[in-house]
Amino acid sequence: MEWWKQTSIYQIYPWSFQDSNGDGIGDLKGILKRLDEIQELGVETIWFSPFYQSPGEDFGYDIADYTKIDPRFGTMEDCDRLIKEIHKRKMKVVLDMVMNHTSDKHPWFLESKSSVTNPKREFYIWKKGRKKPPNNWISMVGKSGWNYDQTTDEYYYSNFLSFQPDLNYRNPKVKLAMFGVLDFWLKKGVDGFRLDIFNSIYKDESFQDNPFSLRFFPTPDNHDEAFFQKKQYNLNLPESFSFAKEVRKHITKYKHKPFLIGEVSGSDQVLKSFLGEKADGLNLVFQFELIHFQFQAKFFKQLLLKNETIFPSPYTPTYVLGNHDQRRYIDRIGGDRNKAKLLVCFQFLVRGVPIIYYGEEIGRGEGRISNFKGKDPIAKMNRFVPLFLSNLLGIYINRDNCRLPMLWDDSPNAGFTIGTSWLPLGTFQKEDTVAFQKKDPESLWNHYRVMFQIRKEWQTIREGSLDTIEMESDDVLCFARKYKDTILHVYLNFGNSREKIRIPNKTKLIYAFGGSILSGSFLELPSLSGMILQVMGSKPSRE
Ligand code: NOJ
Repeated sequence: MEWWKQTSIYQIYPWSFQDSNGDGIGDLKGILKRLDEIQELGVETIWFSPFYQSPGEDFGYDIADYTKIDPRFGTMEDCDRLIKEIHKRKMKVVLDMVMNHTSDKHPWFLESKSSVTNPKREFYIWKKGRKKPPNNWISMVGKSGWNYDQTTDEYYYSNFLSFQPDLNYRNPKVKLAMFGVLDFWLKKGVDGFRLDIFNSIYKDESFQDNPFSLRFFPTPDNHDEAFFQKKQYNLNLPESFSFAKEVRKHITKYKHKPFLIGEVSGSDQVLKSFLGEKADGLNLVFQFELIHFQFQAKFFKQLLLKNETIFPSPYTPTYVLGNHDQRRYIDRIGGDRNKAKLLVCFQFLVRGVPIIYYGEEIGRGEGRISNFKGKDPIAKMNRFVPLFLSNLLGIYINRDNCRLPMLWDDSPNAGFTIGTSWLPLGTFQKEDTVAFQKKDPESLWNHYRVMFQIRKEWQTIREGSLDTIEMESDDVLCFARKYKDTILHVYLNFGNSREKIRIPNKTKLIYAFGGSILSGSFLELPSLSGMILQVMGSKPSRE
């Protein structure tokens, strides 16, 4: 089975991971310093949010040069060393590739906007608009996607923020330039790309108005209908599905078997279209259902049944609890690390690729920075919305709050920087730091470490099939993983009461947490506990 189907992905947000030079911003040398610790945790594939040259208005998702390292983060030499050192430790590197748009400070855009006859004009989407935007298309941030530019008295299109003009993929030169960028990094040995808002790549050529929709709020897994509009003509176009295949074909030429994981949103059918009918599109897409989980066994069971039906092998589902755009999951369970252990067990042991956002392994909490004080451009746009109101409505506005620095130890600034941190550290105790949790065998960090180990050790988890098992209690989730002759059972008690469960006669304990006890052919599961068992009788050996 291909390596990327079996891996797990750990996301590093470079701004907040580790500072090495005291400027208060994380950097590549800082990450290098922490590589051994990342490896000790068990990380397999590291995805880096952008560290390319950028004005930083959207913290790197506004790129001004795709083949230069932003001086904030270091040099190309640091980057080469980072790639080398990651590979030396048998881990893989995934870079974030923002193909949809550039920064408005990118030389391509500066040229493009200079005159209608400039050779780079067609690199972006320009339209005339008689004193109003050319059509009604709303961007992903809820305002008109059209931006008026005085120089040539035309509008350019941006499906995100106005300083992020969308590239025009109907121009073959844009494709060529972007494939050149992919090649630049692939030749350096990177193992894959995370493709930013890939569902936005193509816009409809007809430029007709989008139809009305009753929905206002977008969700992480659906931007298709939002802000009272069905985004029929500016998102999820069939041309974007075909382009997914084109990019896949392009990267397949590389012997080291790099892969693509797309940030797309929409119905399961839309996701599947990006993956390709013959699984020949993007290798993986982010699946965001866990971003708004309900802490109930039946929620997780339904999700498994759905994914196994709609995305059976050779498709590989992904399980995402958080990222740099979403409220941290630990906050959604009131900081309860026992609950977190159940979620992680689910995320790591089902069939698919778990995607972990830095800090989740220690239960790093959210910040409480108001929208008014936010550095995040989305917060700036909505600065007069009080934090309590956005929380009440369940909309996440100030993404600074999920991007606070990593908590390493109990030295000043939790070991993140010796300078003034670019974002505050927020409130925390020494029990929340990596250094403390490493020493505590019951900590969340150690639970993550065991989960990484179990995935590495058991081919059954990486490659096996998955079946849910009916339980008498609605509070217990049980699923079986099977590969060749080996069967593993995972039991998780999401409820408030102790459950006693009859289990197959011959079993061997692999891992127990939360006070679960195995006695003969019974399993006792206190509230928020779990157990992994190997069902014996067939082949009792580990692979
Ligand atoms: C999605 C990224 O995850 C987000 O952080 C960014 O602001 C937008 N795309 C625009 O690139």
